Amino acid sequence: MAVDSFPAKARKISTNIGAHYVDNARILPWRSPPGSNLPDPYHVWLSEIMLQQTTVGAVKSYFDTFTQRWPTVQDLAGAKEADVLAAWAGLGYYARARNLYKCAVYVAETLNGIFPQKESELLKLPGVGAYTAAAIAAIAFGERAVVVDANIERLVARLFAIETPLPRGRTEIRAAMDAITPRHGAGDFAQACMDMGATICTSKNPKCDICPVQKQCAAFAGGNMEYFPVKPPKKDKPVRRARFFWIEQKGKVLLATRQPQGMLGGMRSLPDDGWAAGNDGHATPPMTGEWQVHDNVVQHSFTHFSLEVDLAVYRNEKIVTNNDDNIWWALDDIANAGLPTLYAKAVKWKLKEQK
Ligand code: ADE
Repeated sequence: MAVDSFPAKARKISTNIGAHYVDNARILPWRSPPGSNLPDPYHVWLSEIMLQQTTVGAVKSYFDTFTQRWPTVQDLAGAKEADVLAAWAGLGYYARARNLYKCAVYVAETLNGIFPQKESELLKLPGVGAYTAAAIAAIAFGERAVVVDANIERLVARLFAIETPLPRGRTEIRAAMDAITPRHGAGDFAQACMDMGATICTSKNPKCDICPVQKQCAAFAGGNMEYFPVKPPKKDKPVRRARFFWIEQKGKVLLATRQPQGMLGGMRSLPDDGWAAGNDGHATPPMTGEWQVHDNVVQHSFTHFSLEVDLAVYRNEKIVTNNDDNIWWALDDIANAGLPTLYAKAVKWKLKEQK
């Protein structure tokens, strides 16, 4: 359906979604209420980076922790990178945390702590891609930017029954979102669409009975809402294996710091077999001793592969290490080690097993 041949439909959708948001906006810590002053750009930027591939529910407490600990972009830039990475632990996609820090340093040191306002300038910042630049420009600065995230993609694909499968369908979806985005209040409008995608126009069992644009929705008219957005055929993820090493003495476990480059770079972890470089979970242990291997104690899903993890355990009261990147960490304080979820799962398994 050619979107621009339906200007009246586009206007109606825009008006109805906007009006619905006034009464139904979710109250979120980084937001201003609909129609009020624009929110702090630092908050908008921080929340949008955290919300990439992550749900609102998971982000809220991290957002609160970050803004209490680092109230301004200058404070964040003044932090140690390792502290920022540790505070990010559990949110996943750790390249985001490294770029977040890089971006904070750039904005604080090169731009006097002031975020650029234009989408095209925002796009140049580390960690800020097309979606995030549009979202910040619209939400924090009121620019009429066209914002499309996964929730909006679903909502718009249904409204206009866009048949082209993803990812090619994104061009049409973006054109449709452009057609319904109002000249003023693009930030509220984008967030209204996100809220609708999260609460009404859900992937499964959408709540069409309470939808303010039910009458305008082509998918509803066809009774095939869940068919949209049309997905590409699914590919099975490859499975890789890894082995982690649990080295324990006197109530402490040995932790390593990962190389700065690569997956989970710069984060703390259990020593491992270098799985990120493609190993198969059968590495030589880092020291000789009586190792006990537990097979497949953790399964973890990354974007492009799944990982099955064995845990090799060695406990001895007289282990000496001479690696500066290693640290003995008290087991009763392990929650504060800033371990990414993959390693935290292995720790949880081990502590339960030895109870
Ligand atoms: N997802 C990404 N950005 C968001 C926002 N500003 N509000 C709600 N969900 C979001």
